Amino acid sequence: MERKARFFWARFARPKKCARINWLADFLLCIRGLIIEIILWYIVLMIAIIGAMDGEIAEFLAVLESKKEEKWTDFTFYTGTIEGRDVLVVKSGVGKVMAALAAQHIIDAYSPEALIFSGLAGGLNPNLEIGDTLVAEDCIQHDLNAISLGFKRGEVPYSPYRILGCDKKLVDLAMGCVPEIGKVLKGRILTGDQFITNRTLKSLQYLYDDLAGDAVEMEGAAVGLVATVNRVPFLLIRIISDRADTYAHMDFASFLPRASRTSLQFIRHILRGLSGLS
Ligand code: ADE
Repeated sequence: MERKARFFWARFARPKKCARINWLADFLLCIRGLIIEIILWYIVLMIAIIGAMDGEIAEFLAVLESKKEEKWTDFTFYTGTIEGRDVLVVKSGVGKVMAALAAQHIIDAYSPEALIFSGLAGGLNPNLEIGDTLVAEDCIQHDLNAISLGFKRGEVPYSPYRILGCDKKLVDLAMGCVPEIGKVLKGRILTGDQFITNRTLKSLQYLYDDLAGDAVEMEGAAVGLVATVNRVPFLLIRIISDRADTYAHMDFASFLPRASRTSLQFIRHILRGLSGLS
């Protein structure tokens, strides 16, 4: 009976000891990981904020604390803090190539935690009014067309890249912001190297039919592609400045001076959220 009992307990004794050691090792690994995360989060990694034009970054620069600047070719990169978080702010210039250039340099030189592009867009979705905000769930290059070779509109041929998804955590954070002006919608942004002033043209019907776009602009999906290829989380936020119609150029020009006012409210909200403060 006694022998039987010893056998019985022996079964449990060893695994129990090993499990305790394993548990301790796992716990110490977790602590180490946590410390590294915290160091990277608060000290090393910054959030990069890109806008295409001066008006689209003006408000960010106005509140940037401990501002420093660095130049690389024609670009000026401003670093500092907003809401206590390290950020980088840059004007990319207009169009996909300028935006991609700026994004790749930011990733190479600053290893950001995330890229956020914000600025103005022309509304396609009839529910979007001037002053509203569209937070992109995803984006597509609408002018990338190799359809005659058998690819879908917006597909980068011979690659997996077409619909470029924004980071879900950043999208959710952005959707929690309540700006002073306008409503906030989530949707799809279409990017191309054209300022669209005639969205009702038959030749542009693909913006709705093939691509189901909510707004058009000229940089977002370029940054999205660079971020996706580099596996860096990205977010795209656009304030609606016009309806991509025959009045678009006038609406855009009159909206530009206050372009980054609403964007700043989103950026502050996101930075606070990333620090767990809101
Ligand atoms: N950005 C703001 N409005 C736009 C439009 N109508 N077309 C392209 N980009 C834009």
